[in-house]
Amino acid sequence: MNKLNILLAASEVVPFAKSGGLADVSGALPKALRALGHDVRVVMPRYYVIDKEKYGLKLLEGSLGVPMGIMGEAWAGVYEGVLPGSDVPVYFIEHEGFFGRKGLYDEDGEGFGDNDNRFIFFSKAVMQLAKKLHFKPDVIHANDWHTAPIPVLLNTTYAHDENFKNTGTLLSIHNLEHQGKFYKGAMDVLDVGWSHFNANELEEHDAVNLLKGGIVHADAINAVSKKYAQEIRTLEFGWGLNNLINEKSYKLYGILNGVDYDEWSPAVDGFIAQAFDVDAMSGKEVCKTQLQKDFHLPVRADVPLIGLVGRLAEQKGIRLLASAIWDLMDLDIQIVLLGAGEKWAESFFSEIAAKFPEKFACYIGYRNDLAHQIEAGSDMFLMPSLFEPCGLNQIYSLRYGTIPIVRATGGLDDTIQNYDNIHRSGTGFKFYDATPEALSGTVKWAVDVYTHDYEGFKQLQVNAMQKRFDWIEAAKGYEELYAHIIAGRKNAMHT
Ligand code: ADP
Ligand code: GLC
Repeated sequence: MNKLNILLAASEVVPFAKSGGLADVSGALPKALRALGHDVRVVMPRYYVIDKEKYGLKLLEGSLGVPMGIMGEAWAGVYEGVLPGSDVPVYFIEHEGFFGRKGLYDEDGEGFGDNDNRFIFFSKAVMQLAKKLHFKPDVIHANDWHTAPIPVLLNTTYAHDENFKNTGTLLSIHNLEHQGKFYKGAMDVLDVGWSHFNANELEEHDAVNLLKGGIVHADAINAVSKKYAQEIRTLEFGWGLNNLINEKSYKLYGILNGVDYDEWSPAVDGFIAQAFDVDAMSGKEVCKTQLQKDFHLPVRADVPLIGLVGRLAEQKGIRLLASAIWDLMDLDIQIVLLGAGEKWAESFFSEIAAKFPEKFACYIGYRNDLAHQIEAGSDMFLMPSLFEPCGLNQIYSLRYGTIPIVRATGGLDDTIQNYDNIHRSGTGFKFYDATPEALSGTVKWAVDVYTHDYEGFKQLQVNAMQKRFDWIEAAKGYEELYAHIIAGRKNAMHT
């Protein structure tokens, strides 16, 4: 395959700034594309939390002018660094007014009132930066609503720009729930002309919907798992855009995310008490003991320990868990939860921990080291999501021999195979109904296998630990899709 110029724009990138899986993907995919020989570059905002010294960021000469419609011209500084462990350039768009704040999108759960301007600015800055660098992308890969304006800009403001003469666009949808819906005045900042404020492009119920605009204008859309790519075409998972997505299904793909095994593997994980692997599992017991100690739970090797890590958002099935918890607390199990988000959930699970100190422990907050330690020390990992575009934690869990208990939706369904006790095949336990009974029934099943069919459970661990979801394979899927986008653009130019 010819070397491609790829510009990946994202609102969060590991290790610089992260709120969820989008950051994992935008930190890992570019490295894999680079390994395949492409000239890939990443652009993200320079949030206040990003330490310039720590990452050795260098200020590029000259500022970047970003036309912001009725707000006039805004000016950005640009810093340059690399994705650690690679030579992939990362450009950071700096603007004190927009990004010089504590949170990425919100402060204490309250979304910033100017998120429309912040990410329209960022999207435009990506375009202006490419021009400044004389970087002519074959493909710009946008991600979620924050950078969804890019395909719109490319087809409007920059339609006749020499720099983008051969540029196509891919929009990855990591989560359709969040669409970037704003007061229609944002059109005057986007400044692509009010003619694009219509029900077939950027308008929805008299408001601007940035993701919708991106879906319409991108050359292709990717929905991070095959199952999710199907689900978003339905009323249940479509968040109001299912009809549009159905209409655009000819350009809809479902390339599954990969995992960065340099980061998430018990054989090399620097955060865990003792390394282990499929042929040397004693370290896992050490990790379990350590986890029980750290969370002040009784240290017992025989009790099944269930881990949970994730944003405490409705998406993650936290209400199902809250309803099932009384049932679960009747079992001889331990649960360790790490997460932050919905205030009701933070206080509810803290209260459960106070009520059942021998069985339930939690840490409310964001801690990467703890996320690794929970993956390593738990016997099982619970993800009862209502919807899950891909989900990464269940894939990390597989590698750590921590058997996933998941609801069969989106990427969870695609990545986990149900246990079959006759053949001792499968990699986890799945349930289908979004009910507390299905959740607790499936936990009971898993606990029963752990307690009464330990050989079967051990085999599940072996099956799980041998599975691989390498980024390089996923990157080959993207490579093919980029090539397809480019070919499509060329054909369109000749017709
Ligand atoms: P989503 O992107 O919907 O949040 P994913 O499963 O794709 O879900 O990715 C979540 C990522 O964020 C994982 O890498 C997970 O370990 C991490 N994560 C989520 N919440 C926390 C937390 N409270 N502390 C540490 N890491 C977290
Ligand atoms: C989103 C989804 C999650 C997915 C991640 C990375 O935040 O909620 O399922 O794994 O993006 O694609």
